[in-house]
Amino acid sequence: MSDLKFNLSQKTAVVTGGAQGIGFQIALQYLEAGAKVSIWDYSEQALKTAHSELSRFSHQLHTAQVDVTNRDSVAKAATSLPWAVDILVNNAGITRDKSFVKMQAEDWDSVIATNLTGLFNVTKALLDKFNTQSHNKRIINVSSVVGLYGNFGQTNYAAAKSGVIGMTKTWAKELSRKGWTVNAIAPGFIMTAMTKAMPKEVLDQMVAKVPAARMGEPQDIANACLFLSSEQASYITGTVISVDGGIVL
Ligand SMILES: NC(=O)c1ccc[n+]([C@@H]2O[C@H](COP(=O)([O-])OP(=O)(O)OC[C@H]3O[C@@H](n4cnc5c(N)ncnc54)[C@H](O)[C@@H]3O)[C@@H](O)[C@H]2O)c1
Repeated sequence: MSDLKFNLSQKTAVVTGGAQGIGFQIALQYLEAGAKVSIWDYSEQALKTAHSELSRFSHQLHTAQVDVTNRDSVAKAATSLPWAVDILVNNAGITRDKSFVKMQAEDWDSVIATNLTGLFNVTKALLDKFNTQSHNKRIINVSSVVGLYGNFGQTNYAAAKSGVIGMTKTWAKELSRKGWTVNAIAPGFIMTAMTKAMPKEVLDQMVAKVPAARMGEPQDIANACLFLSSEQASYITGTVISVDGGIVL
C-alpha cells in the first residue's frame, strides 16, 4: 500500500505492459487510489497471474491481451475498451542488449518496434478514446536514464528511449492546450524479476554507483506516475522526471 494519497476514484487508466514488473505496480497503485484500470500486455500467462493477484479489485479491473507492436491488436483493444480514458501509461518495453559490434538488425528492429513504435501505435489508437470532458488528461511515457545518457550494450534501447523523450516533448507542445499533460519518467536501476536474477556482485556494483545507495523499487516509479496523474500536477507537461536515486550525478 502506498503512503501517497491521491484520489483517482473518478479516473480510468490504461497501463501497457501492466501485467508484470513496474507496470503491474503502477496498475496496483492506481487501483488502490480508486481508478479503473485496463492492463494491456502481450503475455497471456502474466495477464492471468495479474488478474488473480488483483482479484480484490475485479470491479475496477479490465485486462486485454495486446501486442503494442501490432496495430490490428492495438486497434481491437482500443475498440473493446469499456471506459473512456483519463490516463495512459506507455510502459511496455523490452531489452535486447549487445555491444554495437555484435548487435543484429533483429535486435534493433524488435526494440524500436516495442519501445518506440509501440508508444506511437497505442497513443494514436487511444487519442480519441480519452474522456472529452476532462481537462486533466494524462499521457505518461516510461523512458529510461539510458535515453538521457546512453549505455554500453544498449544502442537500440538508448535510441528508443531517447526517441520517447522527443515524442513526449512534441506531444506536450501539441496536446497541452487540449487538456492533456504529457510527461516522461526516466527510471534508473529498478528491482524487477530481471534485475533480481542478476548475480549479487553485479547488483552490488550497480548500487555502488547510486548516491541513494539502493536499487529503485517499482513503487518508486508508480509513486511518480500517481503524482503526475493527479490534479496537483496539472501544470507539469513536457518534462522528464528522473527517478534514479541520483545515478547520473
Ligand atoms: N527495470 C528497470 O531497471 C528499468 C529501468 C529503466 C526503464 N525501465 C522501463 O520500464 C518499463 C517496464 O520495465 P520492467 O522492468 O517492469 O520490465 P518487465 O519485463 O518486468 O515488464 C514489461 C512488461 O511489458 C510487457 N510487454 C513487452 N513487450 C510487449 C508488447 N509488445 N506488447 C505488450 N506488452 C509487452 C511484458 O509482457 C511485461 O509484462 C520498460 O519500458 C522498461 O524499458 C525499466
